[in-house]
Amino acid sequence: MINIEHIREDFPLLKNTKVIYLDNAATTQKPIQVIEAISEFYSKFNANIHRGIYDLSEEATELYEEAHEEVAKFIKARSWEEVIFTRNTTEALNILALSLSKKFIDEGDEIIVTIMDHHSNLLPWFKVAEYTKTKVKVIKFSSRWRLTGSDFENCISERTRVIALPHISNVLGVINDVKSVAKVAHEVGALLVVDGAQSVPHMPVDVRELEIDFLAFSGHKMLGPTGIGVLWGREDILEDLPPVLYGGDMVKSVLLELSTLKLSIEYNDLPWKFEAGTPNIAGGIGLCAAVKYLERIGMNEVHRHERDLLRYTLKRFSELEDKVSILGPLDMHKKSGLLSFNLSSYDPFVVASWLATDNIAVRAGFHCAQPLYKYLGLDNGSVRVSFYIYNTKSEVDALVDSVKRLLGEK
Ligand SMILES: Cc1ncc(COP(=O)(O)O)c(C=O)c1O
Repeated sequence: MINIEHIREDFPLLKNTKVIYLDNAATTQKPIQVIEAISEFYSKFNANIHRGIYDLSEEATELYEEAHEEVAKFIKARSWEEVIFTRNTTEALNILALSLSKKFIDEGDEIIVTIMDHHSNLLPWFKVAEYTKTKVKVIKFSSRWRLTGSDFENCISERTRVIALPHISNVLGVINDVKSVAKVAHEVGALLVVDGAQSVPHMPVDVRELEIDFLAFSGHKMLGPTGIGVLWGREDILEDLPPVLYGGDMVKSVLLELSTLKLSIEYNDLPWKFEAGTPNIAGGIGLCAAVKYLERIGMNEVHRHERDLLRYTLKRFSELEDKVSILGPLDMHKKSGLLSFNLSSYDPFVVASWLATDNIAVRAGFHCAQPLYKYLGLDNGSVRVSFYIYNTKSEVDALVDSVKRLLGEK
């Protein structure tokens, strides 16, 4: 069982402020262990990696490589070489889309995305399709809300090269059945790209068990610092893909024939081939501390705690009867700890501003998924509350009390 009081002690911001922080899908708070790991790096080990042969540089390199190993273990990757550090999910997906467009996607091919996708997993594929003259298809979900392999069966063809979808929708909180989608993708030789921004921080994710090809996620949504994210890919595919950023550390050798200006590059091994230039070393080390923190709690416990809070929120929201409408499925088996809703005729921004006056932090708007809101016919978006390991039932009570006051029920 999670000891929330104990956990909250680790979060300076929760102790220093009175905020009721329910915007964890946007970014999470940071425990002291992460803050100290970053501070310790700068005060004791700061040097560039892979370049110096002096102790400091070797220590910094070791810590940065350990961070890749820790992340690899966390998602059950086959090897740490499959873990590429990026700035965030967005950058991971952009790098992947660009790289695939150079090698794997040709004119006339098809890319499948979904109406549930965050702009980060939508725009890169549309942009790549533009210049590769590829067709993009958009999968909509049925009344079941949740995406499974069967939703893709009628759309897929021999020309499908990539299917991209979110593991968990950042609007609906629904957990998609990515394993069954992987099966459908692989039947026609397509690759499955999973946006794990809302799943990796909140539940156990095992890339081998899911049989997916790529996974992207952000450190700052899982207790880590901003500016560090992950692109995981199957090693055999990554080996074959070209880099998209060029410069230092991603090459083993560069030969420039001055008379002909012919340039020959030998790329570095994975994952460095995709990590050009000085990386966010401190960010990687902070992410490593965040992953260790989550491992100590256990991802099953994290998931269970958030679903308990969600179940409790739904129970309390039922007191509001028809004044609240909830987006997404109510079936708890398919939900993560995230809830989007609207209140009677209130604009979501009015609701979020009202809650802010009670020091309750939630998000309002389209949550970077504007096409989904258009599809749902919600022109003003919605309010979203999203939980994490440090949230409590009394915080949910404060939320419901505040909403009731807005509705004039208290
Ligand atoms: C499902 C999903 N994908 C991608 C992103 C983008 O994450 P980042 O801004 O860290 O790149 C988010 C952020 O909210 C998200 O919820």
